[in-house]
Amino acid sequence: MTEINRRKFLTYVGTGAAALTVASAGLGGLAPKVEAKGRNAANNLFGFNKKVSGLNFKPIEPTDTDDVILPKGFKYEVVAAYGDKINEAGDTFGFNCDFTQYLPINGSNHGLLWVNHEYSSDLFVQGKPAGANGKYTPEQIEQLLYVQGGSIIEVKGDRKGGWKMVTNSKYARRITGLTPFELTGPAKGSQAMENATNVQGTFANCSGGLTLWNTVLSAEENYESTSRAAGLNENHYGWIVEIDPFDPNFKVRKHTALGRFHHENAAMGLTNDGRVAVYMGDDVKDACVYKYISKNKYIESRGKANSDLLEEGTLYVANMKKGEWVAMTIENVRAAIKGKADLEAKFQTQADVLVYADEASILLGGTPTDRPEDVEISPFDKTIFIAHTNNDRHGNFHGHITRFIEDNNDLGSLTFDFEIFAAGGKQSGFSAPDNLTFDSNANLWTVTDISSGSLNKGIHKNFKNNGLFVIPTVAHKNVKEEEVGEAYQFASGPVEAEMTGPSFTPDETTLFLAVQHPGENTRDINNPTSMWPHRKGDTMPRPSVIAITGF
Ligand code: FEO
Ligand code: CA
Ligand code: CA
Ligand code: CA
Repeated sequence: MTEINRRKFLTYVGTGAAALTVASAGLGGLAPKVEAKGRNAANNLFGFNKKVSGLNFKPIEPTDTDDVILPKGFKYEVVAAYGDKINEAGDTFGFNCDFTQYLPINGSNHGLLWVNHEYSSDLFVQGKPAGANGKYTPEQIEQLLYVQGGSIIEVKGDRKGGWKMVTNSKYARRITGLTPFELTGPAKGSQAMENATNVQGTFANCSGGLTLWNTVLSAEENYESTSRAAGLNENHYGWIVEIDPFDPNFKVRKHTALGRFHHENAAMGLTNDGRVAVYMGDDVKDACVYKYISKNKYIESRGKANSDLLEEGTLYVANMKKGEWVAMTIENVRAAIKGKADLEAKFQTQADVLVYADEASILLGGTPTDRPEDVEISPFDKTIFIAHTNNDRHGNFHGHITRFIEDNNDLGSLTFDFEIFAAGGKQSGFSAPDNLTFDSNANLWTVTDISSGSLNKGIHKNFKNNGLFVIPTVAHKNVKEEEVGEAYQFASGPVEAEMTGPSFTPDETTLFLAVQHPGENTRDINNPTSMWPHRKGDTMPRPSVIAITGF
């Protein structure tokens, strides 16, 4: 394993003893260029040893304890849990939190935290068992829509590393399945959208990303059950939405140019000529990896007006056999479906291609993959890391992390190569990689999502509860070459939970993490399978965001 990782690493950066020098000399030149453009993560290029996250912990063993277990010297506290009041108006924190993004007000001690809320629970939110199959009342539909979407909360740290939610915040508010959204891009007002230019709400918000202009992108993933329950048009969901947590006057919007599918996340970077590139996965078995490239260039001084870069551009799908990004234009789709009457009827405009992007991508030769979840762009070398979580259709039960290497290290390149960077399984100690985030030492922080029905049994037994792993992607002073590609367990989650949305404060002294669906398999509300976060007087488990300190 060690030897394979080392070989893979050297294949990419060069060979022999000179490899590290090559890496520094060859890629170091990227640093000032990218930094000058203000990419948050890229500011840390080659900032090795400047920050504290790194690998300075003793890895933990897998455990089935009903708690968040951390290495010695680290602690966590709950910042916000389902149902907590977030502001004086009485808005409450939503259910099943996922993506988190810290936005500084004052450095790394005081800021806003955007949190996605992915889905509800009939049992814990509505008080009836899942599958009870009764129709929702209008009040229950309102509740179903309210507990999803996102929360903007204000958080403050004290000098001892403790974090609290500021509940009299002037910023704190909710974005929910009831919030009005505007549409942008080619599908706005189109027939496939029933001519809508504005739509109701966002839900099924899984992971997301930060734009270069410091707004949040949130990804609508498994929208079907909620849109059906609420009688809403399904085509209005499955988009990438944009929110400015600081500014309630920034109209929340859905960018149709980025396509509609089961969006997991959106990772933004810059092409070598200054356009915006957004990488995205469609988290479905046998679904594709996408990239959007804006028509126009990013101009830092335009600030949030750069949002219009997400309105006009080209959506591409990855053909991994050819190593090509295929443009998803109506012309290309029409050429691919020539003579097939039913498809010719379905795909008549660019809007049709975007609304039914998951179908169009396969028609264009996009490669069906093993459930692409989170995607991250390495701040070290601009390679693209994709968590392919698993796909039992192909016997890929443990998943893997794929790494795309764009030609010329250019996110604007239309050709690429790829490698399997790390594979889940007994040999690596992790299974079902999901959300990813980089620290400034180019370590990839990877959470796992073994489904609640598979946890702690069969081939998943030895992994115990879901975890958070650190996988170095580059060797340097604190990371030996043989450690690259190896997974070191940093955290273990509560019973039947998945940990999601890891994100660091800029100084990397705090890691925010969402704990989603603890006790998910509970059938009897009086006898939950998890009671995390074990709050005094509480009678049920609560999805919560935690702050981990001790780095
Ligand atoms: Fe919501 Fe694909 O995880
Ligand atoms: Ca996920
Ligand atoms: Ca991520
Ligand atoms: Ca998942």
